[in-house]
Amino acid sequence: MATSTKTRAKKSSAGTVSVKRFDGKSVRRPPAIAFLMKQHREVEDLFDKFENAEEDQEKTELVDQICLALAVHAKLEEELFYQTAEESIEEPDLVDEAYVEHATAKDLIAQLEGMTVGDQYYDAKVTVLGEYIAHHVEEEETELFPQAIRAKMELTELGQKLEARSEQLKQELGDPDSAATKSKIKAEAGAGAHL
Ligand SMILES: [Fe+2]
Ligand SMILES: [Fe+2]
Repeated sequence: MATSTKTRAKKSSAGTVSVKRFDGKSVRRPPAIAFLMKQHREVEDLFDKFENAEEDQEKTELVDQICLALAVHAKLEEELFYQTAEESIEEPDLVDEAYVEHATAKDLIAQLEGMTVGDQYYDAKVTVLGEYIAHHVEEEETELFPQAIRAKMELTELGQKLEARSEQLKQELGDPDSAATKSKIKAEAGAGAHL
């Protein structure tokens, strides 16, 4: 009996990847979910760095990185994850809410892309965007992602697809310091702001 329990436990974690959850706890998740969660942690790190940054140059670079990371992540989820999730999970309304939250975040990103550090409300907008993203991420990690796992969505091959598309999008949107990139991210953000 002991052996079969052990085998089952081993089986249930097979094919999963270790990743940190929004509350810092280490968990194991299927590759696609782990990949999206890893990107959540990366953008949270950037917001933390912004909160501690003092120099204008550093703040500008961090906001460029935040806007690029969020533009890539939102597009990835919308292109490759949300639609299938909407067709599979118990509460498809969660996906509608996620689209609306993306649209609101994109609106703030578009505003930030048109601003310069030192402008009135610049720091406040970054802080509000960070809080907003934290709320969205927590909902994804506690509701949407668990439902996708329970619905037995295909999350292994999707992990590879997300990784490949993420690299492509980073290249498409380019170097976060270039002016051309800023306008592309702004256009991308604007495109989603009117959902
Ligand atoms: Fe999202
Ligand atoms: Fe996400």
